[in-house]
Amino acid sequence: MIDVLVIGTGEYVTGLSPSKQAASDKDLGVVALTLFDLRKEGIVGNLTLCGRDGNRLESIKRHFKNNLEGQYTDLDTFFEFYPKEQCIDELAYRQALKQMPPKSAVIIVTPDDTHFEIAKETLEHEHHVLVAKPLVKTVAEHTELIRMAKSKQLLGMVELHKRFDPIYQDAMARARDLGEFSFMNSYMSQPKSQLLTFKQWAGQSSDISYYLNSHHIDILCTILTGKATPISVYASQSVGVGKQLIERELEDTISLMVQWQNQRSFTEAHSIHTSSWIAPPSDVHSQQRFFYMGERGEITVDQAHRGYSVATEESKLLSPNPLFMRYTPQNNQFVGQSGYGYQSIKNFLVACHQFNTTSLPVSYFEDRLPTFANTLNVTAILQAGRISLDEKRVVLIEEVW
Ligand SMILES: NC(=O)c1ccc[n+]([C@@H]2O[C@H](COP(=O)([O-])OP(=O)(O)OC[C@H]3O[C@@H](n4cnc5c(N)ncnc54)[C@H](O)[C@@H]3O)[C@@H](O)[C@H]2O)c1
Repeated sequence: MIDVLVIGTGEYVTGLSPSKQAASDKDLGVVALTLFDLRKEGIVGNLTLCGRDGNRLESIKRHFKNNLEGQYTDLDTFFEFYPKEQCIDELAYRQALKQMPPKSAVIIVTPDDTHFEIAKETLEHEHHVLVAKPLVKTVAEHTELIRMAKSKQLLGMVELHKRFDPIYQDAMARARDLGEFSFMNSYMSQPKSQLLTFKQWAGQSSDISYYLNSHHIDILCTILTGKATPISVYASQSVGVGKQLIERELEDTISLMVQWQNQRSFTEAHSIHTSSWIAPPSDVHSQQRFFYMGERGEITVDQAHRGYSVATEESKLLSPNPLFMRYTPQNNQFVGQSGYGYQSIKNFLVACHQFNTTSLPVSYFEDRLPTFANTLNVTAILQAGRISLDEKRVVLIEEVW
């Protein structure tokens, strides 16, 4: 059993979005629901949530009572909350970190540009840390977090949940056996209504490439570990639609073209990673797919469509993805324990417990989890992509090291 602190109380944690108009596929959230269930299983001890607005406590409690306990009658949604006062306190997480026993588990789910500072302070307080993707925005920050986690013998993990999807896992293992890398094309989107949820930071402190391309770039980097090296990135953008919605200059769609070199044959290969937050409403909340081409074969995964559709009198045709989070209750109980969103968080907590109670070597965790140390190339490619957009040129990966 391990005590857990979650910093951030937005959509991914609670399901609550700042905009009532914003459509979401996660009205019940992911992180808090998973942790309430894991507390029932005896894996989570004390649970604390920390936001920055003390006035939100009552609405979060009400939401959990009505929408979680309302349909999962076996779930207890009690939690400690920071800030303790009814005020706005950007630094309430410092108080929350202080009251956690050393080597607790801290989960950071705040906007991308705040991850580095909060993760650094979490490690300084001697806690294990799981950070929502993208971990940080620069290689310099990422390297510093790797150094700190290593020197303090703590676990630093990134919440890259696609690594726990059984089909992606199988595809990654097969792709590694297809000989030299040739090409990958990935696409991921969010509906444009979601931009209202992200209004406070979209186009200002992060972009859609950091937000969504991080997933498939991590999948490719994992496949290519020890096989190929990223050499350069050239980024292209489309603009104009999002600006009308949130009245700020921002990229609607970003493509990163990455040049790779195979380590055995020294041959060239490339990948294209596109992400967009101006998608229309459709049968899925988020399109997500990739195509991989190796020397001896190709793989196509359409993660958004698993051959499962639902049509009812009340809604249009839907393609649900219960493999990520299964919200549909059974006998009034939550039964989504096999979802890869749930598994990502559970794997972190189990690993924290193993870190605290066993002498398993660090390589054990590196082989199984998206750690700070094995995701550095993801940040390098995303950062090079950002520089390429800003400076409209090809950026060598060695420039960001
Ligand atoms: N929404 C998703 O589906 C999703 C999925 C995976 C990862 N993520 C990642 O999770 C992070 C948050 O995303 P979200 O969608 O929940 O965003 P959101 O905008 O809904 O929520 C962010 C929350 O962080 C809080 N916050 C900001 N600064 C804080 C601070 N100093 N202390 C405490 N809380 C603070 C905000 O008040 C807000 O409640 C991002 O890095 C995102 O990339 C989101």
